[in-house]
Amino acid sequence: MRIPFIAGNWKMNLSVDEAINFLNTINGKLPDPKVTETCIAASPLFLESMLEHNTNSPLIIAAENCFYEDEGAYTGETSPKALAEMGVTHVIIGHSERRKYFNETDDIINKKVHAAFRNHLTPIICCDETMSRRQSADRISWVVSQVTNALKSVTAQQAKNIILAYEPSWAIGSGKTASTDEAEEGCYLIRQTIADLYSDDIANQVRVLYGGSVNDDNADDILAQTDIDGVLAGGASLKPDSFLKLANFL
Ligand code: G3P
Repeated sequence: MRIPFIAGNWKMNLSVDEAINFLNTINGKLPDPKVTETCIAASPLFLESMLEHNTNSPLIIAAENCFYEDEGAYTGETSPKALAEMGVTHVIIGHSERRKYFNETDDIINKKVHAAFRNHLTPIICCDETMSRRQSADRISWVVSQVTNALKSVTAQQAKNIILAYEPSWAIGSGKTASTDEAEEGCYLIRQTIADLYSDDIANQVRVLYGGSVNDDNADDILAQTDIDGVLAGGASLKPDSFLKLANFL
């Protein structure tokens, strides 16, 4: 049985004070982590304060990104080693905004996945799909290739703990959520790729999330889909009450 995973990605929003207020507001209102795991990915600037204020909560505090080296002359980058040392346990890798605005390639994403494992961080690997890709003949192979390339040289032992997210960029921030069939198809494709790369057993262990304009109105139907184990919400995770609704849907 896969434990559902309800995650928020704050991106470059909120302030440290708002982040702490968020944690204080949701404290004690999250589901039992044995039933549903919950997670917030935040700016590296917030993480230390959030971790300090999160000690008695089941909420997982994640990073939104990390570099693929542990240390060195990489001005402005975030060390996966330092993230782990401060108590971060999960990291989003390959978000479509990293691919789009920071030119992250599948090769860079694969190096970051290995850096996450090297530092005992659980990667939340995002697969993008632009509208042009969706309408093209290689729609399916595009999702499959991102998963395959992100997991190059990742062992079965490592793979079984990963979390993946189908995040069609045409649905991100647009208010145009994928239909349940579209969301299910994208997550099914990811899970089948894991089965082809490793085994059915591992494909049934990984968690596959949907992200792209998830909100209180559509989360229930999305979470009811066979191959969807959770959501990765942006806008709907910025306010405590809407995040709590997502977290307690299941
Ligand atoms: O990583 C999740 C994010 O890209 C989705 O954003 O605002 O469409 O829920 P949003």
